[in-house]
Amino acid sequence: MARSQISVLFVCLGNICRSPLAESVFRHLVREAGVEDRFVIDSAGTSDYHAGDPPDSRSVATARARGVEVTGTSRQLRPEDLRTFDYVIVMDGSNLAEVRRLHERTGGYSRVHLLREWDPEGGGDVPDPYYGGARGFDDVHDIVERSARALLEDLLTSLD
Ligand code: 4NP
Repeated sequence: MARSQISVLFVCLGNICRSPLAESVFRHLVREAGVEDRFVIDSAGTSDYHAGDPPDSRSVATARARGVEVTGTSRQLRPEDLRTFDYVIVMDGSNLAEVRRLHERTGGYSRVHLLREWDPEGGGDVPDPYYGGARGFDDVHDIVERSARALLEDLLTSLD
């Protein structure tokens, strides 16, 4: 069904490393494509470990070096997110299991997918870079950027 607007929520564990990056890269691509008014974009964490915190400075630094500003404040995924967002895009299998558990408990209509289902170089998890070094953040950025690009191309085809 063609839509006038699509809402997309990116989800990871802490909402400080991967999902704020995915949100910001996707928003950047949406702006570049001139379709800002057609998308609602947000991110959340399955945990509340970092609720209220800004994005991880390593995510911010690697993205800034590529011209993308990562902003936002960490928040935990809420049951109503699964009723309000068209797409919930998770970073790894553990996030997927958590979102499915929440869905079983509280219901909802969102389509839930792993981001790397759109990765032209292969599927799987977006690795958690939190306990690694800067190199991990560069790798994550590469994965997120090419997957988000393909995701946007795909979603643009369902806009009217
Ligand atoms: P994220 O990374 O899920 O990509 O935001 C993590 C952030 C924090 C923790 C784990 C992963 N933590 O355990 O606090």
